[in-house]
Amino acid sequence: MHYEKTFWGYTTEGIPVDLYTLRNDKKVMVQVTNYGASLVSLYTPDKNGNIEDVVLGFDSVVDYEKLTPYNPFFGATIGRYANRIRKGQFSLDGKTYSLSQNNGVNHLHGGIKGFQKQIFKATPFVTPEEISIQFKRLSHDGEEGYPGNLKVSITYTLTKNNELKITYKATTDKTTIVNLTNHSYFNLTGEGNGDILDHQLMIAASRYTPVNETLIPTGDLLPVKDTLFDFTSPVSLRDPIAKLKKLSFEGYDHNFVLDKNGENISLAAKISEPLTGRVMEIYTTEPGIQLYTGNFVDTYGKEGKYYGKYSGLALETQHFPDSPNQQDFPSTILKPGELYFSQTIYRFSIS
Ligand code: BGC
Repeated sequence: MHYEKTFWGYTTEGIPVDLYTLRNDKKVMVQVTNYGASLVSLYTPDKNGNIEDVVLGFDSVVDYEKLTPYNPFFGATIGRYANRIRKGQFSLDGKTYSLSQNNGVNHLHGGIKGFQKQIFKATPFVTPEEISIQFKRLSHDGEEGYPGNLKVSITYTLTKNNELKITYKATTDKTTIVNLTNHSYFNLTGEGNGDILDHQLMIAASRYTPVNETLIPTGDLLPVKDTLFDFTSPVSLRDPIAKLKKLSFEGYDHNFVLDKNGENISLAAKISEPLTGRVMEIYTTEPGIQLYTGNFVDTYGKEGKYYGKYSGLALETQHFPDSPNQQDFPSTILKPGELYFSQTIYRFSIS
């Protein structure tokens, strides 16, 4: 288990940015950066021992600085609020807060300069079992319209058992809302090697949150049974995406309600890719997971490779979209004296 820190480049404002490379003895290699506390690369072996990078991304920090659609949040930590908040508004203790409306009328992924565009302070921790890089920053009161000084840490840990663990913690000095996630797009054949349509997906969710035309939940939790949202047993994505297209949806962009018993970490999703034999399981403490099949990806990534529609799929562990405006959804409110804690583990294996 070892890591190295290298200088990666400067932001357009001239701020130096580092890349941390973490390796275990089983040929898994993870690269993370203090720019956006982002996951840049994740190399894993396939069934023949070929090592490939299974996440979409860019070679330089300047590319990560660009906005969507050029950079659709590749690998980034999303905060303070992952996913959408209706019309960028919510109320806490009788006060209404206005956030940027950066996705039509709605607020998306923490705003224009959300966590994905911020610089974090990095601290490594190494034990014989695992290596961690902890990224910390203070998100000041009023940043992107959110109340409270929020102290946040995001820790990436590579274990000797081929797990990548992301642990999120936050505290605040004023009542606020928090919903953090990671926005990696996975392609288990290797990034740039085509699409994810033959990946098989299981999501441990018997309900999902249907949305309106601007992708804001209606508030219902509908059963997935007998619908295109039923991933309770593994499903190859090609056929359901073709059916969704006939219904004028480009692909999946939906939150699933995980079948959980309390807040313990549990299996949320599993992707397998038949040709390479790569398997990734996702375990989380979160109540929901967003499946986004890269419906609008259209950019050039690492080594100039073209990434089109469905070139990667994001599975974002999260609280449900627009929870601050939905009384019946699990709460995303964080009060002074409380600790926000969220953990997601990506476990890699071969079938
Ligand atoms: C959202 C999509 C959005 C994408 C941005 C996803 O998390 O669910 O609606 O287009 O991020 O790249």
